[in-house]
Amino acid sequence: MISVSYLKSMYSKEETLAKIMASEADFLHVDLMDNTYVPYTNFTLNELLLDLKDSKKPLDVHLMVDNPLKYLPYLLKLNVKIITVHLNIKDNLGKIISLVKKSNVLMGLAINPSEDVHLLDPYLDKIDYVLVMGVNPGMGGQPFKMNAINNLKYLQDKNILLGLDGGVNGEVLKYLEGLKIANLVSGSYVCMHPVFDEKIRELKKYFSKNN
Ligand code: DX5
Ligand code: ZN
Repeated sequence: MISVSYLKSMYSKEETLAKIMASEADFLHVDLMDNTYVPYTNFTLNELLLDLKDSKKPLDVHLMVDNPLKYLPYLLKLNVKIITVHLNIKDNLGKIISLVKKSNVLMGLAINPSEDVHLLDPYLDKIDYVLVMGVNPGMGGQPFKMNAINNLKYLQDKNILLGLDGGVNGEVLKYLEGLKIANLVSGSYVCMHPVFDEKIRELKKYFSKNN
């Protein structure tokens, strides 16, 4: 699957969303920040709900926030397929996991490049998906950190769906050879190019080679 993030784009937010909706992307990757878990904000929850209430593309929601429980009742009413939260947040992960699983949505945990991948161990049999971060959560357009490759290798035989988010581009695909990744997330590589589908097709070649 290819999931496209609209955080950093050469087009306005409205144009970017319309272009992703019309593209060959499988999911829309929705990044939400709260200015506490990460020192940035992008869209407010209300703005997001307004923009995505009629989304035809399934949503892959990535919450870089300390209190996902505050947002989940609203987000779970959208066309959501995956919810991902981070490990070191203020809300209780057990509560989040049970709420998301009850809603028949895939539950994901993200692992940052600077975090010890073993922190995931106690959760691996309780969740569906791990989002391996290729960059520190926050801005779009950051360079890929190679520690993500070690994390992907560790998780290969753990019987869990994997995603990769941050810094993914044509060059990074070379490092992914032989690794199984169900969901490749890309932001600026796709959205800083005038024709989104050209880059999406380039990324899709990864799946014909590795799966
Ligand atoms: C980073 C976000 C990513 C980001 C990806 O904090 O979670 O989803 O938008 O953008 P690129 O592909 O530009 O790194
Ligand atoms: Zn993201």
